[in-house]
Amino acid sequence: MYAFDIATDDKPALYRDVLSAIDAVTAGEPDAIANMANAAAVLWQYLPDLNWAGFYRNVGGELVLGPFQGQAACIRIPFGKGVCGTAAETHATQLVDDVLAFPGHIACDAASRSELVVPIVDGDRVVAVIDLDSPSPSRFDAEDAAGLERLAKMLTDRVNR
Ligand code: SME
Repeated sequence: MYAFDIATDDKPALYRDVLSAIDAVTAGEPDAIANMANAAAVLWQYLPDLNWAGFYRNVGGELVLGPFQGQAACIRIPFGKGVCGTAAETHATQLVDDVLAFPGHIACDAASRSELVVPIVDGDRVVAVIDLDSPSPSRFDAEDAAGLERLAKMLTDRVNR
């Protein structure tokens, strides 16, 4: 059993502790799916106000649903499509305050109102994207993006097999 002591007073402390928890459950484990599964579980348990948290993997140049928490979701997303496909194609974090205003947004859960997608990039190849959805508009800010970008760097070698 894992037990984590996660500070929730402010976002820097929250992300410090969430990343430390994910580091603890992924370090030394070579299986990419196991590492994504535990990372999704920790994100889901400790980040407030989410309705989806998980991964899409780059499988042959297409995003394919990976380990996640939340409602069943669309399985395949072409690069360039939706928020996830845009992050995968551009290698850039997508912070979307209002998903209804994002051209081509793919609705997997009708409750989603804002979204943060961070690509995990190894050299010039996208390995996967981390996707967080919230039922609240403008749920995510630059601190969330920075926290997830640090997570993406930490996970690059651990979800890349
Ligand atoms: N909304 C995403 C699709 C994935 S679900 O949110 C889980 C998108 O537009 O790419």
